[in-house]
Amino acid sequence: MFDILIVNAKIHGKKELVQIGCKDGKILEIAPKIESKAKEIIDAAGYFVTPPFIDSHIHLDATLSMGMPRFNQSGTLLEGIKIWGELKPSLTHEAIKARAKQLLLWSIAKGNLVIRSHVDTTDPSLLAVDVLLELRREMKEFVDLQLVAFPQDGVLRSKNAMELLIRALDKGVDVIGGIPHFERTMAEGAESVRLLCELAEQRGLMVDMHCDESDDPHSRYIENLVLETQRLGLHGRVAGSHLTSMHSMDNYYVSKLFALMSEARINCICNPLVNMNLQGRHDTYPKRRGLMRVSELLDAGINVSFGHDDVMDPWYPMGTHDMLEVVHMGAHALHMTGVDQQASLFDGVTINAAKTLNLENYGLAPGCNADMVILQASSKQECIRLRPARLFVIRRGKVISHMPKTRASVNIGSGDVDVDFCR
Ligand code: FE2
Repeated sequence: MFDILIVNAKIHGKKELVQIGCKDGKILEIAPKIESKAKEIIDAAGYFVTPPFIDSHIHLDATLSMGMPRFNQSGTLLEGIKIWGELKPSLTHEAIKARAKQLLLWSIAKGNLVIRSHVDTTDPSLLAVDVLLELRREMKEFVDLQLVAFPQDGVLRSKNAMELLIRALDKGVDVIGGIPHFERTMAEGAESVRLLCELAEQRGLMVDMHCDESDDPHSRYIENLVLETQRLGLHGRVAGSHLTSMHSMDNYYVSKLFALMSEARINCICNPLVNMNLQGRHDTYPKRRGLMRVSELLDAGINVSFGHDDVMDPWYPMGTHDMLEVVHMGAHALHMTGVDQQASLFDGVTINAAKTLNLENYGLAPGCNADMVILQASSKQECIRLRPARLFVIRRGKVISHMPKTRASVNIGSGDVDVDFCR
């Protein structure tokens, strides 16, 4: 007897519809016809079933704070950091928690059940760290939160920042972050990467740095990240977030860089919505897109996943935390509208992201967690085209969110006709 059986499910790579049987929070069987009974049956009606979406990069401490204390007029990263610095002294436990929790409700409704959030550790009170650790405990039945200790104002540039970052790790933050391009000098940027990677090696932790989030092609801290990953044996456990300077680098240099990144098994996290907004702000015309070279990285065998980065905060005024919106922007801005390229983008918010986050038991296969999303679409590509309704969001074999199908009634003179945008 299964706890839950999903019938008429369209899954990637299978022509015929399948049934998915789950028990005790795990997927036990996937087959065209399953004989066992189930306590609950969900009819997917031929729509697409996927493992849940994963956001590899967001800032839950700043989320939904747009306009506080003022709006970002220049639209630049640096003005965003300044506004966040102005807001920090007036933040309260209740306010951060209410906003982050509101965002998590959106996340769940959109089918994002795993989220890696950076949390600013340069505030001496570590208020946001305490809030997000508390929220992670309270929401653990519904969503997995990985937290990154992020020294927003620079681990060497900001007073006591290394000590505060270590305190955040002691409290239970999982991953070590950094921001080398914001340190005072190139030498200090490189030194910050060395110190933070050594700390990760000592503590057996993963690394995820804001790295080269700049339009300056000479911002090359990715080189230091690769060097330290190799030196300390951190292969596969290190991620470079943003890497936007790669857009403006010389092609010859990039050809050397990709080989080094591949050897070190660096994971790359691209944030198309936010970097399309922040980058190229100092350009006249032509204006650079300022995104890492995703298609070429994938061709070089380097893992790439995607993040929303910001939702309605000092750096980005829009968003509903829909990871399909992230890759929809990616498809356009990265020139990745080919059929296989769109499938790779979808993988960047599902299976490739699971690799970046070093997740276990993720996927749509027997033995994996019974976590999945049923979308009103029929394929990975159609999910990106439509960004459709998440009909059911299932976590450990239980429906935790559902919504009706979206359709229009069109009347062109001969009565109402139902219009569904699926092909
Ligand atoms: Fe970020």
